[in-house]
Amino acid sequence: MQPAPAPAPDADTQRASARVQLPEVEVDLPVIVGTEDEHAVDISRFRDKTGYVTLDPGFGNTAACKSAITYIDGEQGILRYRGYPIEELAETSTFVEVALLLIFGELPTKERLERFRGMLTDEQLLHEGMRYHFEGFPSHGHPMAMLSAMINACGCYHPELLSSEMDDERLLRATATVMSKVCTIAAFSYKMTKGQRMEYPDPSLSYCRNFLHMMFSKPHRRYDPPLQVVRALTKFLILHADHEQNCSTSTVRMVGSSGANVFASVASGVCALWGPLHGGANMAVIEMLQEIQAGGDDPKTVVAKVKDKKFRLMGFGHRVYKNFDPRSKILEKTCTELFDVLGVSDPLLDTARELASIALTDDYFLERKLYPNVDFYSGIILRALGIPLNMFTVMFSIGRVPGWIAHWYELYGDPDRRICRPRQIYTGAGKREYVPMDARRC
Ligand code: ACO
Repeated sequence: MQPAPAPAPDADTQRASARVQLPEVEVDLPVIVGTEDEHAVDISRFRDKTGYVTLDPGFGNTAACKSAITYIDGEQGILRYRGYPIEELAETSTFVEVALLLIFGELPTKERLERFRGMLTDEQLLHEGMRYHFEGFPSHGHPMAMLSAMINACGCYHPELLSSEMDDERLLRATATVMSKVCTIAAFSYKMTKGQRMEYPDPSLSYCRNFLHMMFSKPHRRYDPPLQVVRALTKFLILHADHEQNCSTSTVRMVGSSGANVFASVASGVCALWGPLHGGANMAVIEMLQEIQAGGDDPKTVVAKVKDKKFRLMGFGHRVYKNFDPRSKILEKTCTELFDVLGVSDPLLDTARELASIALTDDYFLERKLYPNVDFYSGIILRALGIPLNMFTVMFSIGRVPGWIAHWYELYGDPDRRICRPRQIYTGAGKREYVPMDARRC
């Protein structure tokens, strides 16, 4: 059995110090240099030494942790998982391989992969008790609400995995449990909203094929998708598998920092992903393109509205990428390949491309370094796969599960781990005298 990896050898090297001058005090702070020569001033003792805290809304300038999982260079458009370029992984790997790479640090051997596949199969079925939970949801309930609730509920059925004390074997089992259950939960929630019988997982199928089977097979007609459909889904999941300290992953780490178990921590990631500024953007992009198609504004008018700050172009812009999002490039190509193979077209893809070409030559977007992000083309692929709009962010969640587990586990083993507890700058009222109810005037 492969042990969990040690942190990258050259990371965390203190090579210099930075002098910070404040009105009353001057202080030297350690400078930490990452393996890709990223420099950070270590402010963990800043308040002790100066009495000051630092203020950074949205954490645009704050590294919350050291991590050896994913490297992004936003200026160059580089994304690597455990050192491997995303382009190579998306082209050649399976999602399950990438999941093991992210969580355990190394690409799995054939034997380990087979063993893990067996565990995924073991964990596919939901406890019968969980079927009753589904029955309690209204049929129009949002699948993201069901997903987060059901992942958390899984903890009730797996008390043996509730501890954050994980060795390699237990982590492998926890990973298989969460990865398998999210697929089954997602497909069950879809079938429920359609009023159709739930299809049981098929242990003979690969991870992606099995998911498509549970989604689209019917009692009288089994769904057997062409290889290219399976490959497009695989790429989609690989490209969403991790993205370092994004909003949902930071949420998972924040929740995990209290010692919360893997189910609770992953469920919190689903909640954070739901918002339209994060994973919910893939849905918002399609709604925006549909509005344009339905005879609303043409792309030029949309861009003009964006520049007037009346509208935000969904699927554009990124906190970290300031050149291009490599995932978006891969997905645009995947759209073309998939449509060629299926012999179909989607007018939304034409509208998306037109919108992108106008935006990418406009000064507003160039000055602010706004480019299509992963969500700009991903929804078009999901539509082609037959995934309904309200399941788009669920699909993102299935992809992101390995990243969330990898970060949850990395945090657990981090010798610097402390409960996440930011400070604040209080801006409310100063001390006031309490006024009893009878003496209060309108
Ligand atoms: N459309 C129009 N203008 C934008 C957009 C956009 N999509 N994104 C940023 N801007 C503008 C802002 O108005 C701001 O302009 P200003 O300097 O004139 O005020 C400037 O660009 C900087 O924007 P911020 O909001 O400060 O950028 P931030 O890094 O905080 O936000 C975010 C990043 C949330 C991704 C943002 O670009 C956005 O809302 N995009 C649309 C939603 C989206 O696609 N989200 C998915 C992101 S990828 C993911 O989570 C998987």
